[in-house]
Amino acid sequence: MAINLKKEVNKRRTFAIISHPDAGKTTITEQFLLFSGAIREAGTVKAKGKKSNKFAKSDWMEIEKQRGISVTSSVMQVDYDGFQVNIVDTPGHEDFSEDTYRTLMAVDAAVMVVDSGKGIEPQTKKLFEVCSMRGIPIFTFMNKLDRDGREPLELVAELEEVLGIDAYPMNWPMGMGKGLLGLYDLYNKRVELKGSQEGEETYIPLDEEGEAVGEHPFKESSIYTQALEDAQLLAEAGNEFDRELINTGKLTPVFFGSALTGFGVQTFFDAFVDLAPAPSKVETKDESIVVDPTDEQFTGFIFKIQANMNPAHRDRIAFIRICSGSFEKGMNVTLKRTGKVLRLAHTTQFMADSREETQEAVAGDIIGLYDTGNLQIGDTIFSGKSNVEFKPLPQFTPELFMKVTPKNVMKQKSFHKGIEQLVQEGAIQLYKTYHTEEYIIGAVGQLQFEVFQYRLLHEYNAEVVMTPMGNKIARWIDEKDLNPNMSSSRNLLTRDRFGNPVFLFENQFAENWFKDKYPDVTLLQLL
Ligand code: G4P
Repeated sequence: MAINLKKEVNKRRTFAIISHPDAGKTTITEQFLLFSGAIREAGTVKAKGKKSNKFAKSDWMEIEKQRGISVTSSVMQVDYDGFQVNIVDTPGHEDFSEDTYRTLMAVDAAVMVVDSGKGIEPQTKKLFEVCSMRGIPIFTFMNKLDRDGREPLELVAELEEVLGIDAYPMNWPMGMGKGLLGLYDLYNKRVELKGSQEGEETYIPLDEEGEAVGEHPFKESSIYTQALEDAQLLAEAGNEFDRELINTGKLTPVFFGSALTGFGVQTFFDAFVDLAPAPSKVETKDESIVVDPTDEQFTGFIFKIQANMNPAHRDRIAFIRICSGSFEKGMNVTLKRTGKVLRLAHTTQFMADSREETQEAVAGDIIGLYDTGNLQIGDTIFSGKSNVEFKPLPQFTPELFMKVTPKNVMKQKSFHKGIEQLVQEGAIQLYKTYHTEEYIIGAVGQLQFEVFQYRLLHEYNAEVVMTPMGNKIARWIDEKDLNPNMSSSRNLLTRDRFGNPVFLFENQFAENWFKDKYPDVTLLQLL
């Protein structure tokens, strides 16, 4: 049956959750599954994610099994109120890697979960910056309102200050922790009362003056009057609601709630699916060509490759973000980089609790393609004659470094081949010391090193010795500014894999010292 592409695409909401570990990403994801009917009780995601019992027999590479990562948690598609919602996971904790950043290239919006007891934390800031660079809308959920947290005004001010984005509170807490009465909802013009029982909620409309209509005991409470006062202050001194600014990522709507108890969560989801954009046009390398999601021709790009899902078969899954058209099982597509034609026979879509063969997918969706080594991160694929090429994915400034040498000098060849391929694939970044051409690998997360070491051994039979160099600040300089004497023990001079000069500074002090000494040299970073 032919699908109505436009209608299907407009139903898509593809987003990632950005947060610092423990802010509540898993809990809110679970609520999404719960509200959409994909799971019946909370605790399912967690049980899989952390305890991993269900996946004891899964095909994952050993390292991932140990960590309990599973492909089913990489992307989940659920039906929420008639919308097809794709939640793309951004691995945090020790699983933080360049993949986490790259995932943000494949989504149309981000949900930023903040622990209201803590405020903006470092990982949130880093992930926010990547989203901000793309100009995608960011929806903030101030979580853990069931606990005593920081003052709401202070939290919003901090958000604006630390992240440099304007905020628009959609609702405002009436109390917090044990004293939580409800939410004063500026957007829906109502008070959302926390019921006496879990999950119970009551909505009371606001009158013209912004007062809850009717007689209610809570209106006598100072908590309510305080919320009214705050709301008034926000209306007078705060930002205005502006859909255009939200859409371009310049204004973040802020919601308060508790992912754990579910309070305020539905209000958040409803506004999110309503305000978050459907898949939009995607630019290509050729500036004159922009891909429209409703174009009939299928196009997409690969933003992540999960290697060795099944050690026995050594297959890999390439994650494809569909940018236009619809996917049909068995369709032929061209891989732009090589011109090779591939048949999309073995694909997979990701549901809440199972890995299923893809039946139908359209622009905005993410499909997994079983790959035997043809595909690379950043690759474009297309059907028919569209012949487009999407812009390359950005590289991210690594923060952790290791010196790496082959354990067995007799195996130099497989060592070099392995490194070259893994670097090309985007698994790790490679640098060479300027003077001695020693290999240094760089990553944004520790997991990347472990995967690198594991894969070199298992796929290339090359055992490596890795010597940690710790955290460094990597800064690129222009070749014309380069003077090898600039290098010292505090700023190691290297070249990246394209031959560009890069300094690895010991710390901020070392970078500042360099800047003072060479004021005319511009230090650049990747994202
Ligand atoms: P993450 O994926 O962002 O790392 O966070 P996750 O959802 O796993 O939540 C981290 C901890 O915070 C969990 O507690 C979780 O129950 C708790 N949490 C999440 N949302 C809320 C909330 O709205 N209110 C409160 N009070 N707690 C919340 P944990 O003790 O580490 O895990 P668990 O063993 O209890 O599940």
